[in-house]
Amino acid sequence: MDPRPIGVFDSGFGGLTVARALIDLLPKEALVYVGDTGRYPYGSKPLDDVSSYAHEITRWLIEEHDVKMVVVACNTASAAALDDLQSTYDRPIVGVIDHGVSSLLKVSRTRNVGVIGTVGTIGSGAYQTEVGKADGDARLVCAACPGFVEFVERGELASDQVRVLAQRLLSPIVDAKVDALLLGCTHYPFLARTISEVVGRDVVLVSSADETAFGVRTMLIENDTLREGEPVPPLFLSSGDVEEFERIGSMLLGPELKNVNRWTAPGSDQATSDQTE
Ligand code: DGL
Repeated sequence: MDPRPIGVFDSGFGGLTVARALIDLLPKEALVYVGDTGRYPYGSKPLDDVSSYAHEITRWLIEEHDVKMVVVACNTASAAALDDLQSTYDRPIVGVIDHGVSSLLKVSRTRNVGVIGTVGTIGSGAYQTEVGKADGDARLVCAACPGFVEFVERGELASDQVRVLAQRLLSPIVDAKVDALLLGCTHYPFLARTISEVVGRDVVLVSSADETAFGVRTMLIENDTLREGEPVPPLFLSSGDVEEFERIGSMLLGPELKNVNRWTAPGSDQATSDQTE
């Protein structure tokens, strides 16, 4: 048994899908969630920058909250930094990529599968490597979908514009006739209807949030580190506008998202000016 919290982070709101799955599956666990909305989006940034953000947040979660585990609830950050984080810190660090891939391969009958994600995620080759490791015979087609995240942030989930963009970006997936498609970006589940209309309703859409939560539970059980006792409210922090985080976040996660605190990246100009005030 281990009463310490689990740290979860994402570039912003998208990782709340993973936080929701964790709250539902492991209601007794304490969560500390950092949404790095002040430096969002990660998907179009150089992977080295994303990796250094991931290190800053992970270090802070360990030093300030003594978290027993860190969940990197962001595909781009998992692609940029997961291996490095795992070899740097003395805590279990869980990403979303391997869990998403195992669920994708589980639902596919033909082993002809697709993954979509941000430019950073797809360009990193992380999904290509993970699918190759899990099933060397699987045929994988990947497509980066720049613009999808921005549509979700604007709440435009099924407009004509997003459909036209989806038709263009998803044409390699349609041409490859996959039978299962992994939504390899935290925001894409919100576009599931439009994506499904474009790729065809018989293609199974897979999101990594639930599978990641199951992976976390398995690890906590194996390490004998589940939390016992009364549930405690999750703690949410944002490096951007906290009121906006609370407003949008509560629509995505539900009523547990309240009393958002401000998070300042330890090395940032803001942190320096906070210290000198
Ligand atoms: N959280 C990012 C991901 O899953 C999407 C949003 C962003 O680009 O920061 O890749």
